[in-house]
Amino acid sequence: MIIGEEIELKIEKIADSGDGIARHDGLVIFVENSCPEDILRVKITGVNKKWANAKIVEVLQPSQYRTDPFCPMQKVCGACQLQFIDYNYQLKIKKQIVEDAIHKIGGLDVEVKDVIPSPQIKSYRHKVQYPISQTKVSKRILAGYYKPKSHEVVNIKYCPIQPKICDEIIDFIRNRAFDFGISGFNEKKHSGDLRHVVLRVSKFTGEVLVVLVVNATKSFDRLNDFAKFIYDSFKEVCGVCVNFNSKKTNVILGTKTECIEGNGFIKEKVINKTFKIGASSFFQINPMTAENIFGFVKNYIEKNFENPIVMDAYAGISTFGIIVSDAAKKVVSVEENSEAVELAKETVAANNVKNVEIHKMDTQVFFENEKRKFDIVILDPPRKGCTKETLESVLRITKGKVIYVSCNPATLARDLKYLSEKGAKVEFVQPFDMFCHTVHVESVAIVNIL
Ligand SMILES: C[S@@+](CC[C@H](N)C(=O)[O-])C[C@H]1O[C@@H](n2cnc3c(N)ncnc32)[C@H](O)[C@@H]1O
Repeated sequence: MIIGEEIELKIEKIADSGDGIARHDGLVIFVENSCPEDILRVKITGVNKKWANAKIVEVLQPSQYRTDPFCPMQKVCGACQLQFIDYNYQLKIKKQIVEDAIHKIGGLDVEVKDVIPSPQIKSYRHKVQYPISQTKVSKRILAGYYKPKSHEVVNIKYCPIQPKICDEIIDFIRNRAFDFGISGFNEKKHSGDLRHVVLRVSKFTGEVLVVLVVNATKSFDRLNDFAKFIYDSFKEVCGVCVNFNSKKTNVILGTKTECIEGNGFIKEKVINKTFKIGASSFFQINPMTAENIFGFVKNYIEKNFENPIVMDAYAGISTFGIIVSDAAKKVVSVEENSEAVELAKETVAANNVKNVEIHKMDTQVFFENEKRKFDIVILDPPRKGCTKETLESVLRITKGKVIYVSCNPATLARDLKYLSEKGAKVEFVQPFDMFCHTVHVESVAIVNIL
């Protein structure tokens, strides 16, 4: 097979990258923007010993699962790879991605349940992070997601997966920044002011926190004036913060944030508790699915334990810990982000929760020094999952079950494999649709520590 060759093939399934997978002459072929059961003529764009990449030249017979995407930008914007696929079938694809990871990477014969759908599949995204750039000649600010597999900003004026107010605020920033002498970031030259705009919207109150991520180490008058102008222009904006990130990095937020106007947080209600979410503290982007997951974990604990002692590790604003505190004798929560820990402490006080102990610490360091045993350990690590040392400590401090919450099926499967090799037994995996129309999926695994 050679680059440029055209062949016909049928798509079998979707890979965790979002590309369709087909087979031809013993090679696996990855085809962008394709759907299982599509019959396609494709052009080979890259070849390796075991696999090749291809682009669609012609859809000879479209899959029954294709549908019209509701966003006109779907093909150019890299955010919603699966939006041209029927939503119920998207859920089947995600189940298969989790199953493939658990069975192939994890080597585990464990039940993966059907994916629990998102209660809302439009306007679900309550955290928006747009990279900013500017046009070469007219110096117009561009704000949107990157084109697939690139760092080229697609200027997005309307995005149906986020609340409408986000489009309005971003358009305002796009049009008015220039009046305050604020330029867009040039990634190649590492020049310009505004790198990202981050918005956090409360489902509960409708209020919006605006975070301007700037290529600077300290604030300056033009920026402060612009922040105040944004704050005064929208009744929904409850605060405007500036985050300083002058590093050459793909990480969006720098370590320092200043609140310029209003509050540095939004308030969000989850089940029966009200949380404060700040500029740099983690909270799930889809609050409706998040509530389903928190409810699922709380119900599971209520059904299977009486007055348990619970560890909430990688706790963020201690969301799991505070929500399950009603069903627990005691909760110990551990998180390394200072802002999240401060807000968690304020939430505990404001909700009159008496049985949650909060630590600002690295999880592994905390586990190593922990002498207590826990009936339940909730693990909700970042995408990279846990280290072997952390899993060893988890086995030592758990006397009942681990509830492992993960946004990455591959690292979840790797970590479940490790725990299983040490004698633990995975009961089941329950996926949830947190990131509708993308290939990403959130899962909760219940593990018995024997
Ligand atoms: C996926 S988030 C989960 C947050 C929280 N459980 C929730 O549902 O909102 C992972 C969290 O782990 C924190 N984190 C990452 N590495 C950590 C470490 N080594 N020790 C403690 N916390 C860590 C991050 O700051 C982040 O808040």
